Amino acid sequence: MRNILVTGGAGFIGSNFINHILKSRDDWFIVNLDKLTYAGNLENLTEIENNKNYQFVRGDISNRELVNYLFEKYNIDSVINFAAESHVDRSILGSEIFYRTNVIGTTVLLDVAKKFGVEKFLQVSTDEVYGSLGATGLFTENTPVSPNSPYSSSKAGADLAALSYYHTFGAPVTITRCSNNYGPLQFPEKLIPLMIINALHNKKLPVYGDGLNVRDWIYVIDHNRAIELAFEKGKIGEVYNVGASQEMKNIEIVKLILGILGKSDSLIEYVKDRPGHDRRYAIDSSKIQNELSWKPEFKFEQAIVKTVEWYLANKSWWERIIRGDYLKYYENQYGKV
Ligand code: NAD
Ligand code: TYD
Repeated sequence: MRNILVTGGAGFIGSNFINHILKSRDDWFIVNLDKLTYAGNLENLTEIENNKNYQFVRGDISNRELVNYLFEKYNIDSVINFAAESHVDRSILGSEIFYRTNVIGTTVLLDVAKKFGVEKFLQVSTDEVYGSLGATGLFTENTPVSPNSPYSSSKAGADLAALSYYHTFGAPVTITRCSNNYGPLQFPEKLIPLMIINALHNKKLPVYGDGLNVRDWIYVIDHNRAIELAFEKGKIGEVYNVGASQEMKNIEIVKLILGILGKSDSLIEYVKDRPGHDRRYAIDSSKIQNELSWKPEFKFEQAIVKTVEWYLANKSWWERIIRGDYLKYYENQYGKV
């Protein structure tokens, strides 16, 4: 039995991960440390909340005393760090919390993990640390880190801290850098859920700039299988890029969603571009495919339909999020974030 501290497990990717792990294996005890910011939602985890191999703790990864206490209490032997402020637009509006959580928070986890001599520290990172590509080329693990937004620079800071703990202290760090995820339980501030929900309300769909920015999309389940593999088999001190080679222009995605929902393209509204907007991301994932035998299973054309169907079937979930009900409930239960 392994005792694993999973951070940020009430968010989009982390909750999909915990649900997947606890339904598919019984050799991990998971302590989920999550601050329950606006992006964290315990309803994402109702299917497994009573699992005997699961414990939720509300708290901040940058709270050293709490992290220490959890390592001791639960005899933690490994960490998977999903916790982060994750939205580029919010990082442009205010960057401080991004550096506090993503850089300082990760450093606190690394420090305590070092003190307790963990077996593995998996840092969940993003392709955005590499910056932006031109019309051709792919990010490889050797592409220099060159982030452009406060969000991506804070994630790059966390990656560099993690790698420095490997080089300086021999900490058992492995990093995954994944492209844009989509799927169930994604907070409706990100492109795909925002466009689905606006279209359902017949509201305008705000497309930044010329709509020709490119992202390389991966279904969240494929990402989580890569994290599980990298955690178990990934080499210490190594970075693994994760992506499904499914590049799409933003405007193509928006039109696809409108088509699936049977709505008119007249809902599209081109709006002022995001400052510093990265033009194109595209991942070369041959390293994880060759070394860890990972490969993506979901094709965009089918999984986007599944995703739209999920949002159609879970209207009350996103309606409560949009009204801010969860935040109010957690504030009543635990106090202000
Ligand atoms: P999310 O915003 O949906 O969830 C983040 C979670 O972290 C929330 O539950 C939030 O409450 C929690 N959290 C925030 N600050 C915290 C703190 N200080 N202490 C404890 N918990 C805290 O994000 P996501 O999309 O699920 O992303 C998860 C991770 O994956 C992030 O590290 C992100 O950088 C990375 N990533 C995301 C994508 C993507 O497309 N969404 C792609 C590649 C990598
Ligand atoms: P987003 O989901 O915020 O992910 P990221 O910026 O981390 O890649 O945005 C994906 C792309 O969609 C990005 O090029 C910005 C664009 N976008 C819009 O055009 N309109 C929107 O309302 C949002 C949220 C994003």
